[in-house]
Amino acid sequence: MKSFLAMTTEERQAAYQQEKAAFEALKAKGLKLDMSRGKPGAEQLDLVIGLQTVIQTNEECFDGDLDCRNYGNLMGIPSCRKLWADILGVKVEQVMAAGNASLNLMYDTISKAYTHGLLHSDKPWCKLEKVKWLCPAPGYDRHFFVSETFGMELIPVPMTDDGPDMDVVETLIQDPQVKGMWCVPKYSNPTGCIYSDEVVNRIASMKPAAKDFLLMWDNAYCIHEFDGDFVPFPDIIGLCEKYGNPDMVVEFASTSKVTLPGAGVACMATSEANMKYFMKLLGFQTIGYDKMNQLRHVRFLKDKENTLALMKKHAAVLKPKFDAVVNGLERELGPLEIAKWSHPKGGYFVSLDVLSGTAKRTVALCKEAGVVMTPAGNPFPYGKDPADSNIRIAPSLPPKAELEAAVEVLCVCAKLAALEKLLAE
Ligand SMILES: Cc1ncc(COP(=O)(O)O)c(C=O)c1O
Repeated sequence: MKSFLAMTTEERQAAYQQEKAAFEALKAKGLKLDMSRGKPGAEQLDLVIGLQTVIQTNEECFDGDLDCRNYGNLMGIPSCRKLWADILGVKVEQVMAAGNASLNLMYDTISKAYTHGLLHSDKPWCKLEKVKWLCPAPGYDRHFFVSETFGMELIPVPMTDDGPDMDVVETLIQDPQVKGMWCVPKYSNPTGCIYSDEVVNRIASMKPAAKDFLLMWDNAYCIHEFDGDFVPFPDIIGLCEKYGNPDMVVEFASTSKVTLPGAGVACMATSEANMKYFMKLLGFQTIGYDKMNQLRHVRFLKDKENTLALMKKHAAVLKPKFDAVVNGLERELGPLEIAKWSHPKGGYFVSLDVLSGTAKRTVALCKEAGVVMTPAGNPFPYGKDPADSNIRIAPSLPPKAELEAAVEVLCVCAKLAALEKLLAE
């Protein structure tokens, strides 16, 4: 296959006819495939059925002396807090084990900043004329939706292979209206990058003009390698403290992609001073989270080592699926010079950059051929990818055979969209 960029117009026309025919043939198959959301596949969900039967008797409902069936313990049960502290490498006192979703905790943290202010706020953010927020992009669309729903002004920050472009960040935080930043430090959604130690240290040592600057550290994929052994990560809370920013960061994680999405255990970790402040507000909101679910999780996961062993089982399911995507892209698009893509070793996504100006068209063509992709632009603030180039691929949900069919469709659509553009130029 020859590079599309090196082709003459006649060659491009011929290639277009060929891809168009391939597209029509795929369309005629009446496919119904979905690579749009990072959901675990059925095989992964099957791994954790033991979670449902791990507590059978009244006697087993206790965490030490604590009866988990009753109200109380807003911070979560001690053994579950300890499990999270071990996984995140933070102190138990800094961890709250909570309900079923970390996104809910993130929303709630920002909501509290608006209604009551943070520990170091002069006033609640709802009283401010403007709140600006740093959004490393491409990033997690739901983060950006949370910011948008509170009326923040979203400021995109370019992502590099090492994390957010810190030169840009360090300039932007000199504006006191810039109140915070989203971060997914390990296997970032969607690029799969791991923030380098240098970037993490620069983040922890930032000196933002806003004294209530909020670093939202979403460690959603902290133990989610599907290729190779567990990669240790720095303790952001300890680092922020070391650099004189002890209350700047709140870290989040959950077992959504360890056990069951929507029925797992989320956690939040932050300085003890922040925790005390948040607990005071949270105490009006709930008497406590689902402690029986926390207990089930601790009994099932046991400890960090055993949890990492479970992640290896997830990896055995996920790796062939990611290989199918990356190999398919390489085979179909490799020589054409119209696309590049990430090669992640963990997390839930492959980030594909098609020819600039053709991502929306590619996704629309996929839909026509029966393949649902995440809407183009979603990984950017306000859903607007300035280059109209990025497409997030989520390989986890479909069985491998379906995935291969979906990648074939995606590649034909990317080629067709690229040829349309090149021929129109
Ligand atoms: C970066 C990131 N954070 C959070 C979530 C959602 O986590 P939870 O199920 O704990 O709300 C996801 C889900 O895809 C994610 O990709």
